[in-house]
Amino acid sequence: MEKLVSNWFNDQALPQSYIFPPETRPGNHTIPGCSTIPVVDLSKASGLDRTGIVQQILKASREFGFFQRTRPASTPRIRNDLAGFKQVVQTMKRKRLGLSSGFFGDKLSESVLLSVNHYPPCPDPSLTLGVSRHCDPNLLTILHQGDVSGLQVYRDGEWIGVEPLHNAFVVNIGHQLQIISNNKLKSAEHRAVTNSEVARTTAAFFIYPSDDCIIEPVKSLIDTDESPAYRAFRFKEFQLNYVSRIGNPEESLEPFKLHV
Ligand code: OGA
Ligand code: NI
Repeated sequence: MEKLVSNWFNDQALPQSYIFPPETRPGNHTIPGCSTIPVVDLSKASGLDRTGIVQQILKASREFGFFQRTRPASTPRIRNDLAGFKQVVQTMKRKRLGLSSGFFGDKLSESVLLSVNHYPPCPDPSLTLGVSRHCDPNLLTILHQGDVSGLQVYRDGEWIGVEPLHNAFVVNIGHQLQIISNNKLKSAEHRAVTNSEVARTTAAFFIYPSDDCIIEPVKSLIDTDESPAYRAFRFKEFQLNYVSRIGNPEESLEPFKLHV
């Protein structure tokens, strides 16, 4: 199937309907894989280094909204994938940002969606995108990028490539974690570009609140000199608004912001 789709694309010019407006096209300039996205080795998370690992995760989540989580190379791949997902989620839950135990359980992380994206080689990657710029609307996303680059994060006014690491998952903060943390953790804008050489397949594991979950900044994460940056809302309301504003991350948060 992959071959069929890829060959079909290789033989054709890029269909008109795939061509993005000039202002959102990635253009011709090459964006190299960037090694500044923090890499956290979670195999150390259960040992003495745990506090250090938690600090690394928090720092990356504040500054980038993204980090890569490595897995030990020695264990079998499939089983270790599965274990990897579990470990990331458990560590993110365990560190709890100083919250009560069980805070991220139940409704906040009730739904899980596994989405597999296939990007065939593209006749002209400068004119189109695999996934256009967005922030993920959920709580937390864990992405298996495979060995082919394509994921880019917007930081300080420019796109930077997230280098594919063979033994790592990419973890990124969703809009809900940004809101709950009163903007302490950052949901970073990202996109996926295509390439003309090889097909790329990614698997994204999205952790979602339930539709009726009430989302709001958590009191213990609002500093004494701060006020809550968002009102309380049901997650369903956020979803409906997000779908109607896809492509504009700032607008997705706007109806939920409290302007003091
Ligand atoms: C997504 C996403 C990136 C990729 O599905 O939300 O950002 O590289 N995917 O597939
Ligand atoms: Ni995404």
